[in-house]
Amino acid sequence: MLETSKTGDAQLDLGDRKIALPMYVGTEGERAIDIRKLRAETGFITYDPGYVNSGACESSITFLDGEKGILRYRGYEIQDLAEHCEFIEVAYLLIHGKLPTKTERQRYAKLLNVNSMLHEDMQAFFRNYPERSHPMAVASAMAVSLSSFYPELEDAEEEKSIAATRLISKLRTMAAFCYKKSVGEPFIYPSSKMTYCENLLNMMFASPVADYKVDPVLVKAMNQLLILHADHEQNASTSVVRMVGSTGANLYASVAAGICALWGPLHGGANQEVMQMLETIHRSGGDVDKMIARAKDPNDDFRLFGFGHRVYKTYDPRAKVAKQVCTEVLKKLGVNDPLLDIAMKLEEHALQDEYFVKRKLYPNVDFYTGITYRAMGFPTDMFTVLFAIGRLPGWISQWYELHNDPTQKINRPRQVYVGPTARALTPIEQR
Ligand code: CMC
Repeated sequence: MLETSKTGDAQLDLGDRKIALPMYVGTEGERAIDIRKLRAETGFITYDPGYVNSGACESSITFLDGEKGILRYRGYEIQDLAEHCEFIEVAYLLIHGKLPTKTERQRYAKLLNVNSMLHEDMQAFFRNYPERSHPMAVASAMAVSLSSFYPELEDAEEEKSIAATRLISKLRTMAAFCYKKSVGEPFIYPSSKMTYCENLLNMMFASPVADYKVDPVLVKAMNQLLILHADHEQNASTSVVRMVGSTGANLYASVAAGICALWGPLHGGANQEVMQMLETIHRSGGDVDKMIARAKDPNDDFRLFGFGHRVYKTYDPRAKVAKQVCTEVLKKLGVNDPLLDIAMKLEEHALQDEYFVKRKLYPNVDFYTGITYRAMGFPTDMFTVLFAIGRLPGWISQWYELHNDPTQKINRPRQVYVGPTARALTPIEQR
């Protein structure tokens, strides 16, 4: 597809020779130089730690402009999707490329409910994990275990859609089971009468001894937060899903690897770190400037969690929505959380600080989500699992896109070797 949008050739001058490399442009004007023939024709590779400038695929799922603060899924603005859609509509959009009609949404909701149960034998796994296991460890293990409990179907197309639906539905059930296990309460099964987010909240917070009625304010917020996380083009965990998928590994295994990548504090794990940081500030009297000074100190590894982004060099559009959702939820629930005041003060001070201004460091999506999750009743170590539930449709759609792209190959980066050159081995008796 990209090859049809060739705009000319870039000339690379290697000193003793020149090489012409094709240039392409995407539908939003993003430009690329195609270096696929570089090594074969010149012996050179490109060097780009952290893949800061390397494009590994063409994609028609998500567009992101980090300078302008734009994020669109399949052409739709993130703000519009969060305002007007349910999470399952967005999941459908990402995976099928179009928003569902009312009938399609109804059918999809039913399919998700039909696939929401876990094989009864899987419950033993939850029960036998140590008490303090992190739910991300359990969730990744459970995701890959699905490949043993639900072997592939013969029909490739049916398998694709069923495996995707199973994952989206069952990861939510697994998340709730992880939580119930951690608090020592019995598992609550999914209900076919509830919507996706109602079911998530009910399985988490209902109990046989207490009346629990799912609050529509929380359902709306849950839908919005999951939508904000649903895809983010070639981020670290999505790249992992694609990399594992490029080896031919199945969808469950690829997604389990993505969950592990998401867990890291620089990625999805930042939402948990943000809360711990805000609590530390609160406990030590609310002085946000001390934390800012630590983040700026070159001799201190500490970073302001929930701040900065590889791609956004302006306010993360997801953070704008997340901040709005946070203030609305707290207001509607009548919660007065001092951590929200601390977060707002921290944001205000950091945005006026030369260090952050110069480096274009703004709040990212993780900055305000944690306070909302806390007000909704989620414990801190569940935050990243909620991110994973949200990101799942993105991982799945990117995995399908990879498999439908004939230009994709097994992912296998090169390196610049800087170790010892060839040397003679002395047998151990002579050393
Ligand atoms: N606090 C203090 N300094 C920072 C921060 C921060 N949060 N983020 C970046 N910097 C500084 C960094 O020290 C560097 O300074 P210098 O130029 O003096 O060396 C400069 O800004 C550029 O940073 P970088 O590490 O080269 O940027 P990156 O693109 O490799 O890292 C990041 C991006 C998100 C990992 C980083 O900003 C960070 O660690 N943020 C905190 C963790 C966080 O909130 N992660 C969630 C990201 S959003 C959710 C998701 O999509 O995963």
